[in-house]
Amino acid sequence: MKYGRKILEPVAGYVPGEQPTDLNVIKLNTNENPYPPSPRVVEALHALGTEAMRRYPDPTASAFRRECAKRHGLPGADWIIAGNGMDELLSLAIRTFVDPDEKVLAPYPTYSLYDVLCKLHGCEMVSVDLDGCFQLPEAFHTTPAKLCLLARPNAPSGVSVPRAEVERLCRSFPGIVVIDEAYVDFGDDHCMDFPERFGNAVVMRTFSKSFSLAGMRIGIAVARPEIINEFMKMKDSYNMSAFSEAAALAAVQDYDYMRGNVERVRATRGRLFAELTALGFDIPESQSNFLLARWNGTPTAREIFERLKTRGIYVRYFALRGLESALRITVGTDEQCGALVHALGEIVKK
Ligand SMILES: Cc1ncc(COP(=O)(O)O)c(C=O)c1O
Repeated sequence: MKYGRKILEPVAGYVPGEQPTDLNVIKLNTNENPYPPSPRVVEALHALGTEAMRRYPDPTASAFRRECAKRHGLPGADWIIAGNGMDELLSLAIRTFVDPDEKVLAPYPTYSLYDVLCKLHGCEMVSVDLDGCFQLPEAFHTTPAKLCLLARPNAPSGVSVPRAEVERLCRSFPGIVVIDEAYVDFGDDHCMDFPERFGNAVVMRTFSKSFSLAGMRIGIAVARPEIINEFMKMKDSYNMSAFSEAAALAAVQDYDYMRGNVERVRATRGRLFAELTALGFDIPESQSNFLLARWNGTPTAREIFERLKTRGIYVRYFALRGLESALRITVGTDEQCGALVHALGEIVKK
């Protein structure tokens, strides 16, 4: 006897990267930040006490949203919704703006959760292949849909399409354009000004990467108030815990701390890029905290992935079309990346 809805039968569900319980492994597989969050976040959490556990949290995280509005120069907190990680906001976007049987447009390859969310909602995701440089082909601009999901920088390529391309999309696309800026703090530019310029633009950010808070589950979506109102209707009453709200507020208040960690990751990214390239990997220029290292030799990328794992080094391998010969490697500390390069040197040596 099957009790699940029919719609769930063909859905495999999202497969997240492994979270090994052994804390001694070198974990470069889920794009977490290798550095700890701001000490002010830790202080804010310690300060909460049992009252914060006993009472319900602020249902809309208003103090955090006000602080974000100030930080990003937005007209007010009503331009922002906070969520239990960006994944919740992505799911909300599909449920808020797309009817089952309508279409969602996304490039391929991209964040694989998009497709899972569409299937769970019963809508179709139309995937348009990126070109050989991971840029948008012309067909992307001419495919109509109700909602477009565009990760910028994209995953797993790490490549950002030019701002002008996103601008063109916002002007011509007939529905909502979600610009997923999960990794944007590691890049050179952003699109946070788009919601004020375009009525259909929604910019999303996560605190899982640059702010080192993946375990706290914090994300924001920024759009015009009439769009945020629709999101608000759809969300759970208390979609963030009191602890996430307090951590989120302290994190944005200590923005410079985050920037310091990001600069360290960017510097390591440059060194890792050079070292992996010297080993023979082919890597597109990354605007994020990971590198897509393509390998056309022996052993295969999958074998390299397995051998690294036996040495306690976790990277990500996707058995997906076009990514069969690639490893996605999160930029860790210099020490972690040094250990990775050393191991790779032994594994791929002729
Ligand atoms: C492109 C992209 N968007 C969104 C997310 C989700 O972020 P969060 O941890 O806030 O749910 C991720 C996480 O890996 C991601 O890679």
